[in-house]
Amino acid sequence: MHKKIFPSGNAMAAAAADIIIDLVKDMPDALLCFATGNTPIETYRLLVQKAHDEQVDFSRCFCIGLDEWLGVAPETSGSCHYILHQQLFSPLGIAASQVHLFDGMAADPELECKKMNILVAEKGGVDCMVVGVGLNGHVGFNEPGVDTKLGAHVQELHQTTLDSGKHYFDTPVPIRKGITLGLTHVMHAKLLLMLANGTHKAPVVKQLLQDEVSNVLPASFIRRHGNGWLLLDEAAACMLEEQVLLEK
Ligand code: PGA
Repeated sequence: MHKKIFPSGNAMAAAAADIIIDLVKDMPDALLCFATGNTPIETYRLLVQKAHDEQVDFSRCFCIGLDEWLGVAPETSGSCHYILHQQLFSPLGIAASQVHLFDGMAADPELECKKMNILVAEKGGVDCMVVGVGLNGHVGFNEPGVDTKLGAHVQELHQTTLDSGKHYFDTPVPIRKGITLGLTHVMHAKLLLMLANGTHKAPVVKQLLQDEVSNVLPASFIRRHGNGWLLLDEAAACMLEEQVLLEK
C-alpha cells in the first residue's frame, strides 16, 4: 500500500482523477470499477473535466459498479446506478453497452452476483477500482465481519450504513440489504484507489492504519494490497500518530 495525504479534499480528488486519466490513456479498454457516495463526487467531477480538456476517450473502457442497494430501482435518484450514470457515464460518453451494474431489483440476486463474478473473471480482473471508506470501515457493502473470501454477494447492512445511506435519497426507501463486489475483487484489483476525506473519517482512518488488518475493519485490507493507494486529505489524517504519518 501507498499512502498520500493532500492539503484539501479537492487536491485529493484532483490526484485521484489524474491517476484514472493516466491509466485510461495507457489502457483505453480498461475495466474500471466505481463506488458512489459523497467521497468520490469531486473526483468524478474533475475526471469528467480533465477527460474533456485532455480529450481522453473513455468510450472503449468497460465500467462496473462496486455495489447497489437491494430493492432500489435503477431509475431511483440515489441508487448507485442513477448516480454513476449521472456523474460519470453520461458526461464521459460511455455507452450503456460498456457498462454493467448490479440490478437492485433483480428477482434472483444470487444470479446477479454470479453474472458479475463471471464478467470480472472473463475480463481478466478489474484494472482500476475506486472505493470510499464507510464510517464503520466497510468497503462497498463488505461490512465488518465479512467473509474475506467472498466474491460478489448479498449483504445484510449494518445500522451505520443504513443511517448514512438514507441521506443519498430524496424520498425514504426501505433498504436493508446491499449487493456488492467482494473483498476478493477489491484485493485483486490491479490498481486500488481508496479515498477518504473530512474529519468525520478521521477515526476510521486511524483504525484502518493503526489497528490490526482484519475483517473487523474491511478497509484495513488495503494495507496488504501491493498497488493500493490510500488517498487522504489532512482532515481525514488528523488523528494519525506521527510515526504513521511518516510511513509512506
Ligand atoms: P461516503 O460513503 O463516501 O458517502 O462517505 C463511503 C462508503 O460508505 O463507502
